Amino acid sequence: MSTSFAKPIEFGLPRVEDASTLAMLAAESITGAWSQSGFESELCKPSCRAQVARSGDEIVAYVIGVRVLDELQLMSIAVGSDFRRGGIGLNLLRRYLAALKEEGVCKVTLEVEEKNLPAQQLYARLGFVVQGERRGYYAGGSSALLMGSTLS
Ligand SMILES: CC(C)(COP(=O)(O)OP(=O)(O)OC[C@H]1O[C@@H](n2cnc3c(N)ncnc32)[C@H](O)[C@@H]1OP(=O)(O)O)[C@@H](O)C(=O)NCCC(=O)NCCS
Repeated sequence: MSTSFAKPIEFGLPRVEDASTLAMLAAESITGAWSQSGFESELCKPSCRAQVARSGDEIVAYVIGVRVLDELQLMSIAVGSDFRRGGIGLNLLRRYLAALKEEGVCKVTLEVEEKNLPAQQLYARLGFVVQGERRGYYAGGSSALLMGSTLS
């Protein structure tokens, strides 16, 4: 990690009770993000795979996806704005992908807004490549890039 934070960053699993915090992190930066009840309902599903990063007792980042057979659709990742550019996103996603691979997931796919270069760079760092495009996918007319990675 390139930046040191006031408290050590620890990685782990979220609880359903963390849904409101995840919704707040999402709302900071993701248009049309899930609400608290959206996160609650996702976190309760057996197909849900999620991890968080904590600074002390505070959740400062999350990643969440849905497993279907041996594939995972990565739904959302966010790092709190005060904690960005310190390696948390990279570490969180790296650990998440390692855990998925460990449980037998072979392929991870995601959609990212074409203008979201930070997220695209992050995904590329971990081996994701652009596999397609959905034109005009987002409200406002911007397109989505479809990215994927094979876990090997
Ligand atoms: C994308 C996001 C998760 C990155 O988290 P982060 O903790 O700041 O990222 P890291 O510090 O771990 O950076 C890892 C790599 O990602 C890329 N990256 C991250 N932020 C970047 C930025 N602002 N500009 C360019 N590249 C960036 C870089 O390749 C970086 O490696 P480097 O630091 O060696 O250059 C964070 O910016 C975020 O939460 N954005 C808002 C939510 C979002 O857009 N989510 C994705 C769509 S669902």
